Amino acid sequence: MTKFIFISLLMCIVPFAVVCVPRKKIISQEIVNLINSDQKSTWEADTYGIKEVNLEIFSQNYLGTILPFKYDKNKEMEKDLSQKEYGTLKAKEEKLPAYFNWATTNKTNCPIGRVRDQSNCGSCWAVSTASAMQDRFCIQSKGKINVDFSSGYIASCDKLNYGCNGGYMYLVYDFLKKNGTITGGDYDSDSGCQPYPVRPCGPFVDSHKMPCVYRSATTPKCRKKKCSNDWHPYREEPESKTYKYKEWTSIRGNISYTTEYLMRKEIYENGPITAGFLVYEDFMFYKKGIYVPKYYWASGGHAVKIVGWGEENNINYWIVQNSWSDRWGENGFFRIIRGTNACYFESMVNAGKPDIKNSDYNVHK
Ligand SMILES: *[C@@H]1O[C@H](CO)[C@@H](O)[C@H](O)[C@H]1NC(C)=O
Ligand SMILES: *[C@@H]1O[C@H](CO)[C@@H](O)[C@H](O)[C@H]1NC(C)=O
Ligand SMILES: *[C@@H]1O[C@H](CO)[C@@H](O)[C@H](O)[C@H]1NC(C)=O
Repeated sequence: MTKFIFISLLMCIVPFAVVCVPRKKIISQEIVNLINSDQKSTWEADTYGIKEVNLEIFSQNYLGTILPFKYDKNKEMEKDLSQKEYGTLKAKEEKLPAYFNWATTNKTNCPIGRVRDQSNCGSCWAVSTASAMQDRFCIQSKGKINVDFSSGYIASCDKLNYGCNGGYMYLVYDFLKKNGTITGGDYDSDSGCQPYPVRPCGPFVDSHKMPCVYRSATTPKCRKKKCSNDWHPYREEPESKTYKYKEWTSIRGNISYTTEYLMRKEIYENGPITAGFLVYEDFMFYKKGIYVPKYYWASGGHAVKIVGWGEENNINYWIVQNSWSDRWGENGFFRIIRGTNACYFESMVNAGKPDIKNSDYNVHK
């Protein structure tokens, strides 16, 4: 942790004075140069062709998790929480592989590596949880329940959360237990009853697609379980089946085990999990490598799906799927330092237990 503090202090005294004043916009190239000129950096940055970023629009549209603690966007965060608050004791650990990745393993034929695109809607809380839930149903039913779960349904029907304006992770897990979700694939796809309702747009999508109007998408209306997909043969099937979690937990270490270990164990045994975390401004420019925050200005909360872990040059990392299309990062994924709780990455972690018995198999293909 001291290393991070050092880096952030350093940034304030060397000629990057501009980063020390609160501002509404940032120049992409400045941050990218800062990261890429650092010989010791464990990751590389890219502007993605973006000249400047309006931070308000960015955090409103491309993030979307409401964090259960306060932080000041206009102040550089001095440090992350240290892992000790979540247990650092070196504990007895069962043996797990040094590298594991659900997105590439041949243990399953489930489409775990399919990257989603939340577009200009702050729905990461719904997208990440739908994606992890779908994986868990598929993995734990041994591929029998292999359908797309609708994040649009969750974003529009979980009324305790705020649709495209963000959501709380513990509330969405409650919703997935009480109400569950229905089927639905990507925007405009023929998969499932309610495909994602917001057209892909924004800085990370293909230029042949329509450019994003610089405004947030509005939250679509909740249509309960109705099939509203023109490309799906819903006439024989006017309502989707519902898929629910039996229970869910927050993963948290204790005197015997670290959170970091319990996360790996949960991923390995039961499938991908979700993490809420605090996004710093440099994160959006991540291109490849192992992300370690260098630039401690907070943008907002985000939620993602963790699919595995590994180690490279003595740095442990998580393998994580983002929802900014496969053009961002490492084909839609990123790796972030593991075991230090950087960006609070190991303090808002959840996993659910699929209710397989009460779900119907192979209904929606
Ligand atoms: C699939 O997994 C098995 C056992 O883990 C491994 O031995 C094998 O090489 C893998 N095959 C491929 C094609 O990756
Ligand atoms: C979710 O469940 C609650 C409680 O049973 C119910 O009042 C609400 O209408 C349900 N929401 C949807 C979208 O079905
Ligand atoms: C620590 O957490 C593990 C996993 O959740 C649990 O099985 C164990 O009973 C806990 N131990 C203590 C001492 O709380």
